[in-house]
Amino acid sequence: MLRHPRRLLAAALALSAGAAGLVLAGTADAATTLGASAAEKGRYFGAAIAAGRLGDATYTRLLTTEFTSVTPENEMKWDATEPQQGRFTFTNGDRILNQGLSNGSKVRGHALLWHAQQPGWAQSLSGSALRTAAINHVTQVATHYRGKIYAWDVVNEAFADGGSGGRRDSNLQRTGNDWIEAAFRAARAADPGAKLCYNDYNTDGINAKSTGIYTMVRDFKARGVPIDCVGFQSHLGTGVDSTYQANLQRFADLGVDVQITELDVAQGANQANIYATVTRACLAVARCTGITVWGIRDTDSWRTGDNPLLFDGSGNRKAAYTSVLNALNAGGTTTPTSSPTSTPTSVPSAGCSATVSLNSWNGGYVATVRVRAGSSAVNGWTVTVALPGGSALTGVWSATGSGTSGTVSFGNVAYNGQIPAGGSTEFGFQGTGSGPTATPACRAS
Ligand code: G3I
Repeated sequence: MLRHPRRLLAAALALSAGAAGLVLAGTADAATTLGASAAEKGRYFGAAIAAGRLGDATYTRLLTTEFTSVTPENEMKWDATEPQQGRFTFTNGDRILNQGLSNGSKVRGHALLWHAQQPGWAQSLSGSALRTAAINHVTQVATHYRGKIYAWDVVNEAFADGGSGGRRDSNLQRTGNDWIEAAFRAARAADPGAKLCYNDYNTDGINAKSTGIYTMVRDFKARGVPIDCVGFQSHLGTGVDSTYQANLQRFADLGVDVQITELDVAQGANQANIYATVTRACLAVARCTGITVWGIRDTDSWRTGDNPLLFDGSGNRKAAYTSVLNALNAGGTTTPTSSPTSTPTSVPSAGCSATVSLNSWNGGYVATVRVRAGSSAVNGWTVTVALPGGSALTGVWSATGSGTSGTVSFGNVAYNGQIPAGGSTEFGFQGTGSGPTATPACRAS
């Protein structure tokens, strides 16, 4: 637990801002950053970031101290990564990736296919030529980032606004209604370790559009189309729908994770309260694995003039920031259950412990392992996992593996060996057969 005088300042700010309805974190050991507080609830707190801003010292200070996940605001989109057909450019996407990984953060990939921000050459294609190009794009980009991405927005904003509950018209939609599932299957084949999300806006409550998406996800789960999560962008105005949490819950009940992926809220009397409401809703839904705000400072936002973020243009914490931090610290009691099968038990051993979450299918699995430091910092770790008979390892990421069957060992790589006291990191592996069910052992170096 972190102790810091800023916590007192944060509480004082919330009071002076007159933020009615806020729950102040009154415990002496409340976390003092968004990322640390969310981590205590088993969740991440992320921000969309831009490669062009990484040279700004205030921006990177806030990024590295407050956030535990990053999403590239534009750098992994189709126009950025494949400006000419078949010629891929990953320079800026890699900068975001490396910024996140070097800070021990998750990286959310955004967005493999979308009707907007397509390169000119794709906009001029149609039919099978476009379908082939789109699926190739998914395969190439997901392969480039294989093993590094926590979750991909595979398809972005494919549903129509208004009351139809149907698909949005687009060049991609005109290639056939199955384009979304084709994209998800290609993404799974290219990067079996990434959670695959559908992401959309105006889905911030139970409405015709969110119900259309709900129906698609239910159908995908029933037919075995690989989908792991749904992103709720949550670009909000001056209110939040009373069914916001219930909507997240109904998707979670389908067996997918839910994530708040692009949160920003118009400046106004309700801004702090709306931020708190969204935060509490995520904490109340066990499969809500994290929240991402769409930018860091108001001046970084795409919503020019709305001042919709948690830090002002100078990088100062706003009342909305305090509201989110207090809501996180006040916290719900639900812990995330982010996979169909998981072994959440943990046995501390010589300064660290490990838990495994499994995403299994017939004949294979992907395992995500969280390594936690105990009350002392860890400087290097080894996790030992017993694989069931017939299981064979086929890939490892963010760790070095030793052995492919029976009892296998995983050691840290350069960027995730050091874990602060109470902190954690993740690595993963995939294999054939059934995944491990026994609790892994963790040994600190
Ligand atoms: O980089 C060029 C620059 O070279 C050029 O001089 C300038 C002139 O307009 O444009 C710059 O590109 C802009 C880009 O942001 C980077 O700043 C584009 O014009 C502009 O359209 C683009 O806007 C992005 C928008 O998506 C595009 O639809 C926003 O930054 C980005 O925040 C926004 O993000 C979307 C999510 O991906 C999906 N959900 C909605 C969300 C908000 O619109």
